[in-house]
Amino acid sequence: MISLHGLTKVFPGGVHALDGIDLTVADGEFFALLGPSGCGKTTLLRTIAGLETPTSGTIRINEQDVTTLPPGRRDVAMVFQDYAIFPHMNVTDNIAYPLRIKKVPRAERTTKAADVAATLSLTELLHRRPGQLSGGQQQRVALARAIACHPTVFLFDEPLSNLDARLRLEARTFLKRLQRDLAVTTVFVTHDQAEALALADRIAVMSQGRMIQVGTPSDIFQRPATTFVASFIGSTPMNLLPGTVTGGALHVAGAVLPTTLPDGQDILYGVRPEYTDLSTTERPDAFPGTVAVLENLGTATLVTLETDSRFIQVVVPEGAEPPLGTPGWAVPRQNRALLYHDGQLIS
Ligand SMILES: Nc1ncnc2c1ncn2[C@@H]1O[C@H](COP(=O)(O)OP(=O)(O)OP(=O)(O)O)[C@@H](O)[C@H]1O
Ligand SMILES: [Mg+2]
Repeated sequence: MISLHGLTKVFPGGVHALDGIDLTVADGEFFALLGPSGCGKTTLLRTIAGLETPTSGTIRINEQDVTTLPPGRRDVAMVFQDYAIFPHMNVTDNIAYPLRIKKVPRAERTTKAADVAATLSLTELLHRRPGQLSGGQQQRVALARAIACHPTVFLFDEPLSNLDARLRLEARTFLKRLQRDLAVTTVFVTHDQAEALALADRIAVMSQGRMIQVGTPSDIFQRPATTFVASFIGSTPMNLLPGTVTGGALHVAGAVLPTTLPDGQDILYGVRPEYTDLSTTERPDAFPGTVAVLENLGTATLVTLETDSRFIQVVVPEGAEPPLGTPGWAVPRQNRALLYHDGQLIS
């Protein structure tokens, strides 16, 4: 549906915003682009939309090479990070604008705009101008405008970033349902990993203009391919502890664990706090430490154990918090552990 081949974008001044992107997004797929600020997410969307010309590479939409086509001939609708709605038009005219470009008669476009506005709770605001709307309301107008024009492809650049936490969750569910119903191929940019995990059929994690890992939310969460992805994904970062194999066993942060790796091998041992249990008695397969911090997560508590020079985090169920300052042992669930060497997942 959308296929990108060898896409690069070098801005004047030598910034490599995109560095050899190869990607295929399937028909009707909800695809999320996730990555830290400045990694090239907006540039990639703008390039797909035709607002930036790639330095090299090709873009196909529905088998058609659109690399040199102007934005108006690509049948994509983009919602921008800064909304870009027209300040001199009221909400109805903003939403109906793409229909006006398509020469849809006035009465029909007003009805359509009102329908879409209703699904986004904008009915009361149809006569207002953007200057009279909050940031979250402007963002919904921008979404409504994209939806009203029924494109082949939606490109969303952090479309929920200006909504408050509750509205953001509602809008997320709404967007997911809408995308299912319309089955429009969607590329969705976010730097919120929870949003990407919740919404996407597949996720690409980007860093410095490259795709580090592409996979389903569970691939990315359960088996991050690199330590960069491992530390980026998850509401609490993965524990990543250096270890060495000696005498046929893996020695990590005071624990001795079984391994099939050869002696002398250095690794980083990765295990999520959610997949680590807390023991109040000593055991050889656990990381010893002292309870240093307790953070309330609502239905659970994040416990930080301090050992010589590092911290290990464990999620314990509500009511099972250990007292501060007491000794504790973090027991990794070994079937959930991941081993990294030189930043790459090895097992
Ligand atoms: N017009 C431009 N000229 C020069 N450099 C640019 C231009 N636009 C973006 N860049 C640079 O390209 C890189 C990627 O920028 P981009 O806006 O795509 O990042 P992003 O992933 O969308 O970040 P954010 O999460 O902050 O929105 C950055 O280093 C940025 O400074
Ligand atoms: Mg951006």
